[in-house]
Amino acid sequence: MDRRKFCAALPVSGTAFLAYAKAKGIIHEEAVESVEHILVEEMEQAAAQRRESQEQEEELPRLPVAPGLVDILEKRMRPGIRNHLLQSANNALERDLPEEIVLACLLHDFGMAIHAPDHGYWGAQLIRPYVSEKVHWAVKYHQALRFFPDPSVGYEYPELYIRLFGEDFKPEPYIQEAYKIARKHKWYMNSRLVTMMDEYSFDRDAEVSIEPFVDIIGRHFKNPKEGLGKDNSPVFHMWHTLTDPRRPL
Ligand SMILES: [Fe+2]
Ligand SMILES: [Fe+2]
Repeated sequence: MDRRKFCAALPVSGTAFLAYAKAKGIIHEEAVESVEHILVEEMEQAAAQRRESQEQEEELPRLPVAPGLVDILEKRMRPGIRNHLLQSANNALERDLPEEIVLACLLHDFGMAIHAPDHGYWGAQLIRPYVSEKVHWAVKYHQALRFFPDPSVGYEYPELYIRLFGEDFKPEPYIQEAYKIARKHKWYMNSRLVTMMDEYSFDRDAEVSIEPFVDIIGRHFKNPKEGLGKDNSPVFHMWHTLTDPRRPL
């Protein structure tokens, strides 16, 4: 930046002070230069940050006024999670599982968009106002069931969990408790099926599409007419955060 542009960009008081101090010999020429240098650097950094945040704004696809589940899944979910969710739901569809299980598979890791730890619980809470109790239950308990094999249906302890938690990992007591509850529950198999479809769904190159699920979502997910994040439900703020994740507060 040249000196004239720099001085023009300074606040009036800053420019006047530098000129006055230089004229009176209060600040040595070299000191003025270094003050100018620091200020120029700061201004350039601020400009770069503004450019970066403008670019980020541009990258975020626009949502409709009343966004629904498909919009959030397509435009706000991280690509890796979206791909995994669609693969899980595809697996359920290919096996002719009931539509509510297909939907539970499609939603099972939605909580990851909020937090990875305890994401089954976060996700279940997020969808509760909009799905049947059965779908909510299946998503909630997949968190615990993933840690426990069930040889009767061929579900083994995930390799991934050995890599993540180590060989001798024992799930925490609240997960063990949840497993005991789920194991005895009449809906156990719903959640177990989610964990099974989950396990087959980590192919990063899999080609997936939301299309096969649009009607199922229409039948089993109650999109609020105001849009997710705008309906004043007990979880509206969580959806609102998903729709607009870059706000500073
Ligand atoms: Fe999960
Ligand atoms: Fe998953």
